[in-house]
Amino acid sequence: MENLCALTQAALAAVNTAASLADLDKIRVHYLGKKGEISLLAQGLRQLPAAERPARGAEINSARGQVLEAVEQRRQCLEQEALSARLAAESVDVTLPGRGQGLGSVHPVTRTMERITDYFSSMGFGVACGPEVEDEFHNFEALNIPAHHPARAMHDTFYTETGAVLRTHTSPVQVRALRQLAAGKGRLPLAVICPGKVYRCDSDQTHSPMFHQVEGLYVGEAGERTSFADLKSLLSRFLRAFFERDDLQLRFRPSYFPFTEPSAEVDIAWGEGTGEPRWLEVLGCGMVHPAVFRHAGLDPAQFQGFAFGLGVERFAMLRYGVQDLRQFFDNSIPFLEQFH
Ligand code: PHE
Repeated sequence: MENLCALTQAALAAVNTAASLADLDKIRVHYLGKKGEISLLAQGLRQLPAAERPARGAEINSARGQVLEAVEQRRQCLEQEALSARLAAESVDVTLPGRGQGLGSVHPVTRTMERITDYFSSMGFGVACGPEVEDEFHNFEALNIPAHHPARAMHDTFYTETGAVLRTHTSPVQVRALRQLAAGKGRLPLAVICPGKVYRCDSDQTHSPMFHQVEGLYVGEAGERTSFADLKSLLSRFLRAFFERDDLQLRFRPSYFPFTEPSAEVDIAWGEGTGEPRWLEVLGCGMVHPAVFRHAGLDPAQFQGFAFGLGVERFAMLRYGVQDLRQFFDNSIPFLEQFH
């Protein structure tokens, strides 16, 4: 009896001072496990005379119960302590300012396209759109680029399985505008720009398989005698406005496009203060070729006009000093955030 009393006291003391849940479990096993001290006492009952067993058994059971209850209490206490410690360590400082919501911004290519569109709108041009999946007639044929014409090789075209093309430029929209005119649905002077996505099978630092163009078309009123001088004046003003430089040097360099005659490419002088300026090509343009009027159903003897086309990414790269065109399509947040 004394033994049991002392053992119970020792067990309770150990349980109540257990420093951790792991400790507590060790103590529990030590006293109550299969070979624990109290369990062994219970096993020793067999050696007692039968008459003494019930009373003795009841005492051991009660001791066992006391210790079990103490273990349970201590466990709850230790768990509570662990939880409080964790809460204290992981506490959130609710007085800190919030992270806020990041505001998006207009993509630099969209922004550039809007700037260009705004300029020409202010000059009286309307905006026209057309399909990105085109037929060969609008993309090539009507623009004086018949099948097997070497100019088709200038456009690395994506063809669909049904023989349609992903438009290689937005000039087909101009063809549609001219055909509307021929159908009596448009008014002269016709002045439209066609902004949109175009596709060419090409990819490197300055080319992407999908990019954006803005092309423009002007057809003057009968007897207006639209000339190359009008084209030159419009584009010179546009480039100086776009780059915000009144003294921007330009040169119109003779070139070739099947759909314009005469044709020119426009270069701008870039990187002044570094000795010789570098001439950078930024635009293609020319007077609408008679064959284009004819394909649209208009009499070239009665109509005169000019057209131009530019790559939007090119303008965005120059304006913002971006070296690699592919960055526009990577969607890297740190890159885009610079254009807020
Ligand atoms: N369509 C031409 C291109 O994509 C650009 C251009 C348009 C040139 C109009 C002259 C006149 O390369």
